[in-house]
Formats: sequence, structure tokens, C-alpha cells
Amino acid sequence: MRILFATSEAYPLIKTGGLADVSSSLSRALLALGHDVRLLLPAYRDVLNNACGIGLKKIAEFTLAEHQVALLETRLPGTRVKTWLLDCPALFDRPGNPYLDSNGQAYADNDRRFLLLARAAAELAMNRCGCNWRPDILHCNDWQTALAPALISAEPLRPATIFTIHNLAYQGLYSYDSFLATDLPARFWNYDALEFHGQFSFIKGGIVFADRVNTVSPSYAQEIQSERFGYGLEGLLRYRGAHLRGILNGINDEEWNPGTDAHLVQRYNRRTLTLKVQNKLALQRQLKLPQDADIPLLGFIGRLVEQKGIDWLLASIDTLITQNAQLVLLGSGERVFEDALRELVQRHPQHIAVTIGYNETLAHRIEAGADIFLMPSRFEPCGLNQMYSLRYGTVPLVHRVGGLADTVIDMTAATMDNATANGFVFETPSAAALQQTLERALPIYRARKQWRQLQLHGMNADFSWQHSAQAYQQLYREALAAARVL
Ligand code: ADP
Ligand code: GLC
Repeated sequence: MRILFATSEAYPLIKTGGLADVSSSLSRALLALGHDVRLLLPAYRDVLNNACGIGLKKIAEFTLAEHQVALLETRLPGTRVKTWLLDCPALFDRPGNPYLDSNGQAYADNDRRFLLLARAAAELAMNRCGCNWRPDILHCNDWQTALAPALISAEPLRPATIFTIHNLAYQGLYSYDSFLATDLPARFWNYDALEFHGQFSFIKGGIVFADRVNTVSPSYAQEIQSERFGYGLEGLLRYRGAHLRGILNGINDEEWNPGTDAHLVQRYNRRTLTLKVQNKLALQRQLKLPQDADIPLLGFIGRLVEQKGIDWLLASIDTLITQNAQLVLLGSGERVFEDALRELVQRHPQHIAVTIGYNETLAHRIEAGADIFLMPSRFEPCGLNQMYSLRYGTVPLVHRVGGLADTVIDMTAATMDNATANGFVFETPSAAALQQTLERALPIYRARKQWRQLQLHGMNADFSWQHSAQAYQQLYREALAAARVL
């Protein structure tokens, strides 16, 4: 199949979160299955800087709405995936984050920026840009590309469309004026199309109009059909239920392999697991925490936003201190959380190390150096770090939601007996539940034999993309069959 994969991030060209990892590793896995994949991505300034070393070729120039744009072809670094960069300097040649300005505010013209990306995806999907390539599948991801299925919905001979929800909390909600700028038919301004309580919803373009919709774990696919996780879209998602799937993300198992990871001071695998502690001692040294192999070291990496349960973690610090544990945190995000964490380090420099910012090497070192990895997320569509942790013999402690529920199996007598236990899971959405689970986990850390079993159960799991890429292939086939009937 020819697959046009439209996304707003792809590792290593540009990344703010898991979408970037998934865009690059899924497109690679599809290529490995023999499909002809093109990745479409905006030519942000960082992307152009990162791609210029590997070569860029202008393959098309055309006008989209009022913009003169170009398509630059490159390869996703380290892969054979053909990548098309949508070059429109007025909208994308800006420093830093793809969505936020240097003050952390969303760009005021994000509606125009991502409408352009969706338009480019739609025109390329219809082979109207002079590229002489007509995809069978247009695969869109999150609200930034969600309008594309709506834009081509009435076209005869259109490709089949897939829309993947990586996070329903981000919907791309804009004004009626913004809708008027799209040249979409006026009848789309309706609650059964793109209107959402008086606003213009980008994400509904994908949910309403794509032939098939999926999310990134089976549990999240169920959860978003409920009021608690559906953000008002649960009714629509239930309506599309027969065409809605949950496909668990895989991980890039070359990038995230403790046996070959170049970021680590000490590589290790299942057989040499006793070497893992060298990474812990090095991490303690690097972050200026007391160096001690026996102190339980807890890690957290992620965006500092409410989703990630960072407030529950902040409320549990006393439990950690009482239990004489150390906490290593890496992340960036909302100012209130960043400030609260900085203040915490002042109070407990012997126990807590915080790094605000984005740091790939440190992320790998925390995965390898920590004993326990914390993901107390309020909701988590899939989550990648718990899978990295399992692979690195770092026992995850998570809230039972979304992809966390699908990958982490709570330690109980029964799950130890049947050799499936690989972490600790709490059910109730509260700081108290997190604290109780920490109090349950830490004594087991000190009981070395059981801990080793937990680590090995996690390390035995296979989270490679192979299986999930096949599930996407199946979904593409279903979408093609559905689109042909139209
Ligand atoms: P989300 O997409 O919601 O942010 P995921 O768990 O799917 O969550 O993916 C987050 C990805 O971003 C992981 O690969 C994680 O290691 C990485 N990451 C998040 N914050 C940082 C950071 N501050 N430094 C380095 N990597 C980070
Ligand atoms: C989103 C979700 C995360 C998921 C990632 C990739 O950012 O928050 O849970 O793993 O997308 O699908």
C-alpha cells in the first residue's frame, strides 16, 4: 500500500512528546512490512536545521490557500523513510517548540498553521501537487492533521482515511471565523460535523470523517467513550464505536535497548542485570545525590502538566522522604509545576534532583539508573516511558489508566505465581492511592529476590512495533474496503 502519514512531529527531526516517537517508529515498521510510506511534516526551523546535514531536495511548489509553499524531500535520519517537509516560512520558520512561542503561549495563528498542514495532506492525498504519487491511505494524527479527512470527504476516488487519537485532551478548538477561512461547506458547521458547542473543532474532522479511527491503546479506546475521559466527545466516539479501535504503541527497540544504549555508562541485559546498579551510582553522582546502591531511586520523566499526575507526586514527597528514597525528575511544562519542583529541591537536596528542560541523554540514564519509574498519570492514552522502563528492568509504578493499564501488571500473589507481575498499579485517582502504593512497593524493593523476578518479567516482554504495525495494516485494509463502498 502507498501510505501518506501526516503528523506534526517526528523523532529525531522534532519532538515534544510521544507522537514524535510513534510517527517515526510506526512509519519505519510499515516500511519494513513492504509498504511505500511518505511522512508529511511541517518544515519548522529546527526540522530544517536537523535535516540539512542529510540533504533536502525541492520536489514541488504550489499555492495552498493564499500561501506559496514548497515540498522538500529528505529521509528521516537513521531510516529509509521518505519524508516530505511542508515549507512555508511565514507559518513554520519559527524558533523552538512547534506549537508554543518562547513565552510558552500557543501561537495565535495555530489554526491557520495546521489548517495549512491539513490542506497539504489533502492535496497530496489527491495527487494534486505534481508529485506523481497517489496514496491508497491517508493516515492523520491528532488535531493538527485532523481536518484532512474532512477536506477530502466528498472527493470521488479519494484514498481511505485513518485518524489516530494520541491524546483527546488536545482538540484544536477555534472560532467560527476560523471555520469560515477553511472553504469547507457551510453544512459542516453543525454538531454532527465540525461544530463543537459553538466552536470549530479540528479533531472532529478526523473523528467524524475518517473511514477508521483509532487510539493508541485498547483501554484508552474504551475510556474515551465514557464521560470521565471523553471531554464531551464520548457520545460521538460511541457513535463511531464500530469503527473505533485501540492499537497499543510499540517502542523503538534499537533506540531503547539497555544492551546497546550509547547514552549509558554501563550497558546491561537480562543476563548481566547486576551491572544495572552502575548506572544508578553514576546517575546519583551526576545529579549530586548521595551515592548509595541500597537507597531506592525513583525516576520521573515527562511533560509537567496535570495529565501526568505531577500534583499527586508533589503531595507524596513526604512518603518518599520517610521511606528514605531518592527522586530524580526530568521534565518541562507548566510554570507552577516547574516552580514547585525547584522549591522542593531547595528543601530536600539530599533526596530530590530536578532537571527542568529536555534532555535525551539524561532520559536514557534515568531509565537505566532508577529502580522504580513513576507514572501516576490521571489519564494516559498509551505512554511510552513505562515500556522503556520494563525493557530496562526499572519497575514501573502507575495509575491503572489507558496504556498503563494495558502494559503494567500489578504485583500480587497470583501474578507472581503465574510470572506476569511486572510493576505496581493503583486504582483510585488520588495522591493517597499513590502513597499507599509507594508504601507497598518500597519494602519489596528491599526484598531483593522478588524484585529481581519483577524486573525479569518486565524485561521478557516484547514491545516492538511488529505486532502493532500489523494491526495498523489490518485497519488500513478495513478502511480501504469501507472507502470503496462509498
Ligand atoms: P506524552 O506523549 O504524553 O508526552 P509519552 O510517554 O507517550 O507521553 O512520550 C513522551 C516521550 O517524550 C518519551 O519518549 C519521553 O522519554 C520523552 N520525554 C518527555 N519529556 C522529556 C524530557 N524532559 N527530556 C527528554 N525526553 C523527554
Ligand atoms: C500522546 C499521549 C501518550 C502517547 C503518545 C503517543 O502524547 O499522551 O500517552 O503515548 O501520544 O501515542
